[in-house]
Amino acid sequence: MNDKTANLVWHHATVTRARREVQNGHRSGVVWFTGLSGAGKSTLAHAVEEALHQAGSRTFVFDGDNVRHGLCSDLGFSVEDRTENIRRIGEMTKLFAEAGVIALTAFISPLRADRDRVRQLVGADFVEIYVKCPLAVCEQRDVKGMYAKARQGLIKEFTGISSPYEEPESPELAVDTSVTDLDASVRQVVDLLKARGLVPA
Ligand code: ADX
Repeated sequence: MNDKTANLVWHHATVTRARREVQNGHRSGVVWFTGLSGAGKSTLAHAVEEALHQAGSRTFVFDGDNVRHGLCSDLGFSVEDRTENIRRIGEMTKLFAEAGVIALTAFISPLRADRDRVRQLVGADFVEIYVKCPLAVCEQRDVKGMYAKARQGLIKEFTGISSPYEEPESPELAVDTSVTDLDASVRQVVDLLKARGLVPA
């Protein structure tokens, strides 16, 4: 609660998250993919979504590059702006979880404290997945040509080059995309979600 929220009263819905979950036939939650640019977060998040969708689950992927065109188009890549980016996404995914959806996110989310804040906000159904890939491999892939530009100094504060990335200390799962192919990575994530009871086994 702060000055701006002091005189607001929470309205409780009769259609609750629990009722939505029963209707959907699965629990809702937030599957948070973090890792360097080019590590494969978006590819993996969308492939997991495809698998969950085909199995009949309600899902939605929030992707850094897309969200930054809309909801977060006023934000850049300073530490403060990244923190605000992740705060907004955290709040948004919490609402999606309330709506009965499995929200999947693909943001670099480089700061441990920012990710942990979302974990606190969302609660038990927050699943952090570290999409691990050595910087040298991400840089070699350079899918968007951004590492080359960052090395030339044309992009400032680029994660891994001139801005920090803090690895998760105890993610629910770490997948190394430099040694694990996409199908195997998807299986690992889906198996984890089944084991946690988020989707039916
Ligand atoms: S985050 O750090 O705030 O979590 P986010 O995932 O939303 O970042 O956006 C990362 C994407 O923005 C990258 O995949 C890349 O395409 C683009 N980008 C542009 N400038 C930068 C930068 N300075 N650092 C990292 N990514 C950048």
